Amino acid sequence: MTAPAAADLFALDRAAQDLLFRAARTANTFTDEPVTDAQVAAIHDLIRYGPTAYNGQPLRVLLLRSPESRARLLPYVSSSNRAKTASAPLVAVLAADVDFHERLPELYPHRPQARDWLADRAARAEQARFNATLQIGYLLVGVRAAGLAAGPMAGFDAAGVTREFFPDGRHEALLLMSVGHPGPDAWRERLPRLPTADVIHTL
Ligand SMILES: Cc1cc2nc3c(=O)[nH]c(=O)nc-3n(C[C@H](O)[C@H](O)[C@H](O)COP(=O)(O)O)c2cc1C
Repeated sequence: MTAPAAADLFALDRAAQDLLFRAARTANTFTDEPVTDAQVAAIHDLIRYGPTAYNGQPLRVLLLRSPESRARLLPYVSSSNRAKTASAPLVAVLAADVDFHERLPELYPHRPQARDWLADRAARAEQARFNATLQIGYLLVGVRAAGLAAGPMAGFDAAGVTREFFPDGRHEALLLMSVGHPGPDAWRERLPRLPTADVIHTL
């Protein structure tokens, strides 16, 4: 008996696997087709079930829709990312809420003391960044599940964006993400992925 093909080992059919991973690409250009608030809400409604430590859900998403808000962002974006940040139908600033612990009595009600375990700001900020970054991964896959493409960008001045858009001092900008329908010449060459044997080891 021959072993099943790897793609047949999943609960998702092959088309869904391709949509989320094999055929999904990081888009560098987008069409003018808008991304609606309803699409964004549907994506969040799906990805909010992704797990986080203490169920803390520290990711916060600031959508830059107005031309004025986009103009405020551009000076902080690296020159190689600027044109695609200016032209994408939607750009999101993805940030961590360092004071996410304030919601733990509601989000982690069986351990109300968890809020006090996170009293130390530096330790809490590390938790916030780590878990918000995990949630960014869920968001990226959620965007693809909605039939859209994402362009994550770390090439920007995160401290500057934090000051510009989050003067409250409780949020830290982590990543920019453009979202939309891929435009002409959206893809660069597909880069190699590590073979499984180089990544997964068993003891
Ligand atoms: C966290 C993160 C940061 C990235 N930052 C940038 C960036 O600043 N500029 C850029 O052009 N691409 C950026 N990328 C895109 C990656 O280079 C791209 O996703 C990777 O090469 C895989 O491309 P593919 O999905 O088309 O195979 C970033 C991707 C991630 C996940």
